[in-house]
Amino acid sequence: MGQETSQRGKKMTASTPTRNKKLLAWVEQVAAQCKPDRIHWCDGSREEYDRLCAEMVEQGTFIRLNEAKRPNSYLCRSDPGDVARVEDRTFICTRTREEAGPTNNWVDPSEMKDRMGRLFDGCMRGRTMYVVPFSMGPLGSSISHIGVQLSDSAYVAVNMRMMTRMGSAVLDVLGDDGDFVTGLHSVGAPLEPGQEDVPWPCNAEHKYIVHFPEERAIVSYGSGYGGNALLGKKCFALRIASSMGRDEGWLAEHMLILGVESPEGEKTYVAAAFPSACGKTNFAMLVPPEGFDGWTVRTVGDDIAWIKPQPDGTLRAINPEAGFFGVAPGTSMKSNPNAMRMLDRDVIFTNVALTDDGDVWWEGMTDEAPAHLIDWQGKDWTPDSGRPAAHPNSRFTASAAQCPSIDPAWEEPDGVPISAFVFGGRLSKTFPLVFEAYNWREGVYWAATMGSEATAAAVGQAAIRRDPFAMLPFCGYNMAEHWDHWLGMESRVKQLPRIYRVNWFRRDEEGRFAWPGFGDNMRVLKWIVDRVRGRAPAPAESPFGYMPHYQDLNWNGLDFPADRFGRIMDIDRGEAEAEARNQEALFRQFGAALPEGIARQRAEFLRRLETTPDVWRVG
Ligand code: GTP
Ligand code: SPV
Ligand code: MN
Repeated sequence: MGQETSQRGKKMTASTPTRNKKLLAWVEQVAAQCKPDRIHWCDGSREEYDRLCAEMVEQGTFIRLNEAKRPNSYLCRSDPGDVARVEDRTFICTRTREEAGPTNNWVDPSEMKDRMGRLFDGCMRGRTMYVVPFSMGPLGSSISHIGVQLSDSAYVAVNMRMMTRMGSAVLDVLGDDGDFVTGLHSVGAPLEPGQEDVPWPCNAEHKYIVHFPEERAIVSYGSGYGGNALLGKKCFALRIASSMGRDEGWLAEHMLILGVESPEGEKTYVAAAFPSACGKTNFAMLVPPEGFDGWTVRTVGDDIAWIKPQPDGTLRAINPEAGFFGVAPGTSMKSNPNAMRMLDRDVIFTNVALTDDGDVWWEGMTDEAPAHLIDWQGKDWTPDSGRPAAHPNSRFTASAAQCPSIDPAWEEPDGVPISAFVFGGRLSKTFPLVFEAYNWREGVYWAATMGSEATAAAVGQAAIRRDPFAMLPFCGYNMAEHWDHWLGMESRVKQLPRIYRVNWFRRDEEGRFAWPGFGDNMRVLKWIVDRVRGRAPAPAESPFGYMPHYQDLNWNGLDFPADRFGRIMDIDRGEAEAEARNQEALFRQFGAALPEGIARQRAEFLRRLETTPDVWRVG
């Protein structure tokens, strides 16, 4: 059990489980500013987790699910105004605006600190401040990094225990002088003496997700949800880490990592970047369809990859997280049986619906909805209610070790060697099912110009937006510099992975998805593996890149005739030209920071289109 001290103006050093000077000084300073009633140092134990969950049940924040159906699992309903990341309230406070770049919100660091100082003054009154030490990456590994989050949310503390390696062991690694990333978090809802708490405290008026990359510091105020509040995830492992990676020569990316095992036991690792709610978890846990006997896909991570060039000329990747915070709606035994099995027990569900027998339900879990539910807002729901029972961005939190498809090497301190990078947005038209970039530079260009249609994972997005590298909301420095950093890998990495674009979301004339997706994505994945292993037959050369012929994919067990394949692979020259023209607006934003190598690839693409027929067919 962790240690608790009450804050009545006394020094707390005697009872603290660390002698780390920076940590002690910081905790004391934050406590003096935020004025919590108590401080709790999390030890990360099971007993602590169970106790905090029980307290949240008592408080009305958690509902304990039916023990027989979903052992040791909880449902949590957030405030209806706090259901997703808030990109318009997310700030990168570098010294200059240029360092943050045109795609990030920027405020001068000292001005932001003043603002935060006012908001945080007394913001934890009536609450407990949890000290949450965590490691991103396996404990003690040379590529891991330590963070400490101070938070007034018990929900955050229990989620951090699943999403990271959290607790006393981290303090041991930190020692007396170790350094760490600071993450200060408050829901921004102090309690007056005697004031009754609400199940999901947050601040309706002020929300701030702030990063100081130069100081490796995060400050988050007003929200308790997901990436806004679990600071190890997007704030640290992507925004701060991408900035560290730029300085130190590595990459922090919004990517899943999977391993494909052939019937002969050959293992090929692939990292793939899809924007939020565009299929990373599904792809990472893919179950090959019938007709792929002996092929298996194993999961290393579903959201974030830290990728480092190695002395042996490879790029190796680790998943810095220890759990999955996945989108619930659409997850079913058909779409993702591994995730469903992972969710059998020991899960925290947020904003899904509650069944009459104390279990959970969400849209897409079963073909037929239950006759009655309590929806994510705690209201009675029936199938004719005309509104979703689960929030579209409702999520599950589960420990990675519990995933049936977890890769044996998922905690390998040196990571796994990456053979291919895959990028894919949610695009109804223009982009084919799959193509391979002609070379590294061209692949970087296709990743940089990736677009995607809106999802529920963030609020306030446009219908279609450019989402370079699926990193638009997550790059902690100038996006143009991020592209340059990628271009620079060409000279630093001997065994460069190949780069692919995929699109599972192309639609037919009736507006239906033209590709079955999910397990059938294995057909595309196997072609990618065959390509990088030098086994695939000579591909077609399209204006986009190398593309498979119909007969190059394994169609076992699926009735998908060549003409349908044609419809998801055809390239309409008019649409492709419009795409290339439209990219100019993206590039113009960056001014002189735009790498020349990227602009050149666009010119080359336009040139290829000059000799392209009205409709290019793979044949
Ligand atoms: P974050 O956790 O937000 O970063 O997102 P993610 O990329 O992990 O998203 P996730 O895998 O949870 O994506 C969920 C959405 O993608 C659901 O709406 C799924 O139905 C949809 N999806 C996933 N794979 C496919 C596919 O192959 N085809 C189609 N049509 N939809 C898919
Ligand atoms: C995303 O939005 O890309 C997520 C969920 O993975 S959150 O952690 O809330 O950012
Ligand atoms: Mn994500």
